[in-house]
Amino acid sequence: NKGHYEHYMQKEIHEQPESLTTTMRGRLIRLGSNKSKSVLLGGLKDHLKTIRRSRRIVFIGCGTSYNAALAARPILEELSGVPVTMEIASDLLDREGPIYREDTAVFVSQSGETADTLLALQYALDNGALCVGITNTVGSAIARNTHCGVHINAGAEIGVASTKAYTSQIVVMVMLALAIGGDTLSNKAKREAIIDGLFDLPNKVREVLKLDQEMKDLAKLLIAEQSLLVFGRGYNYATAIEGALKVKEVALMHSEGILAGEMKHGPLALVDENLPIVVIATRDACFSKQQSVIQQLHARRGRLIVMCSKGDTVSVCPNESCRVIEVPQVEDCLQPVINVVPLQLLAYHLTVLRGFNVDQPRNLAKSVTTQ
Ligand code: UD1
Ligand code: BG6
Repeated sequence: NKGHYEHYMQKEIHEQPESLTTTMRGRLIRLGSNKSKSVLLGGLKDHLKTIRRSRRIVFIGCGTSYNAALAARPILEELSGVPVTMEIASDLLDREGPIYREDTAVFVSQSGETADTLLALQYALDNGALCVGITNTVGSAIARNTHCGVHINAGAEIGVASTKAYTSQIVVMVMLALAIGGDTLSNKAKREAIIDGLFDLPNKVREVLKLDQEMKDLAKLLIAEQSLLVFGRGYNYATAIEGALKVKEVALMHSEGILAGEMKHGPLALVDENLPIVVIATRDACFSKQQSVIQQLHARRGRLIVMCSKGDTVSVCPNESCRVIEVPQVEDCLQPVINVVPLQLLAYHLTVLRGFNVDQPRNLAKSVTTQ
């Protein structure tokens, strides 16, 4: 049921404040009179010790689910101290890459039925790793065959392009990082700030959704383009990759997410006054590096659309030469949840304006159950 929306993708983008609330329900707790804050993931509580002791955590998934894990990787590394590596399921299988008994393998899948992810799960089980599932579908093959896991509880997702599952997956993996990290004195302030940020996140998503019309206007400007680049780094490298994936899979426009730190090693050659480039430059530890990326793109007359934190327009675009998207600022590890929303809206409007099928993009399936 699409309610008053025209498309499922549109509905699913706009219901993210509610889906995120459901994802977190009963899992964030404020304890006792001193209101100390904590995370409870029922499906993992008996396995946390094993996960903490593992030699490595390896995330495995496909498409948007892989991107969600990429977004959560930095905070998991920071809070857990355990090395975190990333595997696209098909590539792990192609290489028969190393998976050991001492590994925790985390399988991320909205449907819980993706063939490559399931085969990679079988492979990791055969190699003796602890296998953890993060899925939206209770009773799915991945939920059944993993040793333990977390349901993201985002509600059914119908649009082929994943939107609300992506943001709920990130939130679950941030909670996973908090759960694995445990309460140490050294990270107490950081943990509490993240938990407060999680409580307030649905409101901040509601705020960023107000950019709908602005993104529609931007889509009108980009309607006839051949290509769109999206530059990100740090916590928002994943946002760049995921934003570009949305644009290519539904709007059928070539788009590439680029790690801004790699700009000089190739992508810079593409920059001219015609190619539109989105640069994600919200406030975090990478901000000044992104400011310098903007300057360098600017020096090559790049056509820039900069995403920045509220009030930062002058800092990212001193001479009003670029278009700016201002978004609410949240805790750095939660910023990818906010920043992806304008890109989801942009992809949605581009698709409608270009006259393509939003919910069933050409050649794609919601759940890819064959190899
Ligand atoms: C569970 C209940 C929820 C109830 C809550 C109250 C289910 C599905 N969930 O939620 O209805 O409100 O307790 O305490 O009945 N699992 C996997 N692999 C996965 C995902 C999950 O093995 O990919 C396992 C978990 O380890 C767990 C079970 O499935 O044993 C349920 O997981 P989850 O729904 O996340 O647990 P709770 O949030 O505790
Ligand atoms: C398909 C979907 O390609 O599978 C994508 O069209 C999705 O939206 C990908 O990200 C992985 O699916 P799942 O269900 O394993 O998360």
